Amino acid sequence: MRTPRGLAAADDFGFAPGLTYLQTGSLGPTPKPVIDLMFARWQELERNPAAYGYGEHELAMEGVRAKAAAFIGCATEELVLTSCTTEGINWIAQGLTFAPGDRILTTDQEHPGGRVGWDWVARRYGVTLDIVPIAPDAHDPQAIIDAFAQRITPRTRVLVFSHLLTSTGYRMPVAALSALARAHGCLSIVDGAQAVGGIAVNVKALGCHAYATSGHKWLLAPKGTGLLYLSAELGRTIDPIALESGRAAYSASSGVCSIPSVLGLGATFDYHAAIGSARIEAHNLQLRDQLYAALQQVPRVRVVSAPPGPLTSPLLTFALPNDVPSGELHARLRSRHQIEVKVVPGNFLNGNRISTHVFNTEQDVERLVAAMRHELG
Ligand SMILES: Cc1ncc(COP(=O)(O)O)c(C=O)c1O
Repeated sequence: MRTPRGLAAADDFGFAPGLTYLQTGSLGPTPKPVIDLMFARWQELERNPAAYGYGEHELAMEGVRAKAAAFIGCATEELVLTSCTTEGINWIAQGLTFAPGDRILTTDQEHPGGRVGWDWVARRYGVTLDIVPIAPDAHDPQAIIDAFAQRITPRTRVLVFSHLLTSTGYRMPVAALSALARAHGCLSIVDGAQAVGGIAVNVKALGCHAYATSGHKWLLAPKGTGLLYLSAELGRTIDPIALESGRAAYSASSGVCSIPSVLGLGATFDYHAAIGSARIEAHNLQLRDQLYAALQQVPRVRVVSAPPGPLTSPLLTFALPNDVPSGELHARLRSRHQIEVKVVPGNFLNGNRISTHVFNTEQDVERLVAAMRHELG
């Protein structure tokens, strides 16, 4: 019988001994069964690269596309494999056409990977970006919906926003914002980098037109993998160069990708399915809520993420006092306690972000809280 670690088996992950890993939101660890499958396929590929790469493995990558589509609730033809969220969002931005004076509506909490494509569009086409400010501790979804609604103009073409904010993990009202976009004839584009794999996601239920995510975060897939959903209703409205020859994993316009990584991505969906997406989400949120409660008792720390309830996600962010730079706490947690957390970029706040996933345990949370008491007490 294998010893459990959270919902995983203790030997599923190859962490350094003693490491408490709470940084899946930046880069997730890949489980050994997935790595084993990936290496096996890689060795197979090297026996006759062209025969496998343009044969059995090319076909298998189409199977991965189908699994990816099923995982997020869309048709295979609506699913494109990418190398990361940034690539997906960039393809969307590059694949749309704009006229000078058009407007794009987004928030001030977007990750650079979800934002850069729109900055490019703004520079290239003379498009204006309108920005909805969301304070780190603003938790009222209706206020966010109203703020979007107030800023839509007749020239607004696109609403683009994260599913879970990278800054605080706040669960955005995606379905309501997508309905708002549709009511105004705009596209709803979602950056789902922090969502897929950590919480159950169904893109059809969200009602967006397009959704980009990464494999190498919450999905725990090989690094350099990603998914892009483009709703069938779009036709060729989003028409980037990479999809000129179709949406297959290999095409003349996309070229060759990292075949072993994509095949590993396929095994990741099996890994998640064996545990269950709903179970994973419940586990992640339970640990997150345990941390939320424990941090209320830690002096000088202010949790800015939402209290337990429907607006939460497996990400939790706390703010620190000005005399404790978040980079310093991060360095001390790493060097003195072997705990890995995220430094929230300073444009959002002086704080750290914690991710709880399938391999984390109540003891991991207790270890973090004890280390923070030690460092801040
Ligand atoms: C919301 C969001 N979007 C985009 C990205 C970029 O992801 P990737 O490097 O996989 O493209 C991140 C990474 O943290 C993110 O949090």
